[in-house]
Amino acid sequence: MTQIREILAASPVMPVIVLDRVADAVPLARALVAGGIRVLEVTMRTPVALDSVRAIRQQVPEAIVGVGTIVTVADFNAAVAAGAAFGVSPGSTDELLTHVAKQNFPFLLGCLTPSDLMRAMQAGFHAVKLFPAKQAGGIEMLKALGGPFPSIQFCPTGGIDATSAPDYLKLPNVACVGGSWLAPANLVNSGDWEAIRLRAVAASALRAVTTTPVTTSP
Ligand code: 3PG
Repeated sequence: MTQIREILAASPVMPVIVLDRVADAVPLARALVAGGIRVLEVTMRTPVALDSVRAIRQQVPEAIVGVGTIVTVADFNAAVAAGAAFGVSPGSTDELLTHVAKQNFPFLLGCLTPSDLMRAMQAGFHAVKLFPAKQAGGIEMLKALGGPFPSIQFCPTGGIDATSAPDYLKLPNVACVGGSWLAPANLVNSGDWEAIRLRAVAASALRAVTTTPVTTSP
């Protein structure tokens, strides 16, 4: 079983993807993979999210496609059933935390406060998403959390863009960053896959990433 740390180490940037049309899923994933970004988070914010994940899995096998915006156990189970390689939540409930901790499934749990981190660690999570990162204090917040929580690796997400990402990636407790700037709605809606590929090229060059291949079960 691939661990969430391996998935985070595979890419400096995890695009946060919102899709309105299943037809966009495969060309978008191909553009991101062509630009060097293989780890993708498709959010459950639209009705076509899980069909999009299935389409990407079938037609873009190089992509490591996870499901984001998991807020309930039912969302989690639906994401697993759709074949997600990993899951992402913006936060946690007792029910979701308890359920996910029992599964052998890579999961990026959303945290914001020291109490969130203590709950996450107690349940066995040591790599988490900091959300919303910029709004919570950004770089200074991550530096402060590194004191009491030196073993936690973060994927900060929220308010990060191509300009600010390099500064986040310099922090020793940042494994990768998440953001929607690689696949914004205007480029997806206009089918400008080349512009998205170019954004992926720039993002994938932000930091040398692990050479360990990440394998996910089919
Ligand atoms: C998320 O869902 O993780 C965030 O909404 C992404 O934030 P951004 O749009 O500010 O990158």
